[in-house]
Amino acid sequence: MEQYIIKGGNPLVGEVEIGGAKNAALGILAASVMTSEPVIIENLPDVRDTAVLIQAMESVGTIVERIDRHTVRINAAGINGYTIDDGYIKKIRASYYMLGALLGRFNKAEVALPGGCNIGSRPIDQHLKGFRALGAKVEVSRGMIGASADNLTGSHIYMDVVTVGATINVMLAATLASGKTIIENAAKEPHVVDVANFLNSMGANIKGAGTDVIRIKGVEKLHGTTYSIIPDQIEAGTFMFAAAITKGDIMIKNVIPKHLESISAKLIEIGCQIEEFDDCLRVVATKRLSNTQVKTLPYPGFPTDMQPQIATTLALSEGTSIVTESIFENRFKYVGELQRMGANIKVEGNTAIIEGVDSFSGAGISAPDLRAGAALVLAALVADGISTIDDIKYIERGYEDFPEKLSALGAVMEKVETDRDIQKFKLKVG
Ligand code: EPZ
Repeated sequence: MEQYIIKGGNPLVGEVEIGGAKNAALGILAASVMTSEPVIIENLPDVRDTAVLIQAMESVGTIVERIDRHTVRINAAGINGYTIDDGYIKKIRASYYMLGALLGRFNKAEVALPGGCNIGSRPIDQHLKGFRALGAKVEVSRGMIGASADNLTGSHIYMDVVTVGATINVMLAATLASGKTIIENAAKEPHVVDVANFLNSMGANIKGAGTDVIRIKGVEKLHGTTYSIIPDQIEAGTFMFAAAITKGDIMIKNVIPKHLESISAKLIEIGCQIEEFDDCLRVVATKRLSNTQVKTLPYPGFPTDMQPQIATTLALSEGTSIVTESIFENRFKYVGELQRMGANIKVEGNTAIIEGVDSFSGAGISAPDLRAGAALVLAALVADGISTIDDIKYIERGYEDFPEKLSALGAVMEKVETDRDIQKFKLKVG
């Protein structure tokens, strides 16, 4: 079984390059099948979730050619099916973007019900409501969602909750619907804006992405484009907390500092120094950090995808901190693992009450989901002694070369597979 093995204790120092945004990439990859002309996507992160979505796109006849590790040429001229039931697709959440994309282009689509990280009930009612408002007939049966329409027509849609997935999905379908669509109470996350910019570069007419109201004038067809994905806000944020928790000094390159404001603000509040440049950020921590209160919120609030990383950092900070999770109800599953490392955290409903401790001790732990897994890596990097982390498949869904990037900053860490690898690591690090 693949694991990470980590010897904690080194401050992380140096430079790290952030890759393309996974959650933007998933929307953009799906959107690329909406034209019959070739599309080139640059700065595509090489992570498991994008690989799975590419497989699903190929399963219906899309040709995806890798130009280099982070660039693909996509040709969806020969799509020959509208049903995506590839065994892997259920494992990723973003499979549902193929519904909006295929429905928009062909007026029909059938996709296996989405899976993804188990961080809550994750309903898709707003996606289905949006498709229905555009005139599609939508059915859920035998683990599949089917949507079809004679003709998609623009509509006025009010989202009952702020949802990234439904905002992107409805935007995809509405791009090729006839007439005007207005999405109210839309999600404002940077990746929503990136998908809209990508669609506009293909000839779509989308205005207002990044605000609460997105206005889409349907166009007849989309054309090819070359597009570079924005940097990953959450990968960047994770390295910012890696600097904070290890009392390190990291220059985080290829970022959009504006997307990181809520994260920077909290780090400054708890005692880090942050220097901002055009496309990089330096995070320095020289002393024990202090406590705070934080509540996850839709963008521009503090991201739910950074909740485990900040909670883990606060578990080693001075005093009592309160972390409230308001987006997903099941996102504290890592707390039991942190407790095994010595953290003092009590979870009540959607709130974690954290009493800072002086240190963590290394332990054998498991990643319960993607971001919690990353947070446990941070915990292990600062713990006394050696930790092993299981279920790293979750972490690999969204972090490219995580051990390599951390090792280049001074982490003592390896990906191992066998007991022999573990013994070798232990001998090497002493
Ligand atoms: C996206 O998930 C991201 N995934 C998640 O990232 C991220 O945590 C989340 O947005 C919030 O920012 C992708 O982009 C692939 P939502 P998504 O729809 O779209 C409720 C990561 O670690 N809701 O914004 O599934 C839902 O239950 C992952 O990279 C409905 O009620 O999230 C939640 O409470 C994990 N009905 C809230 O809205 C719906 O139809 C926000 O969910 C849809 C959502």
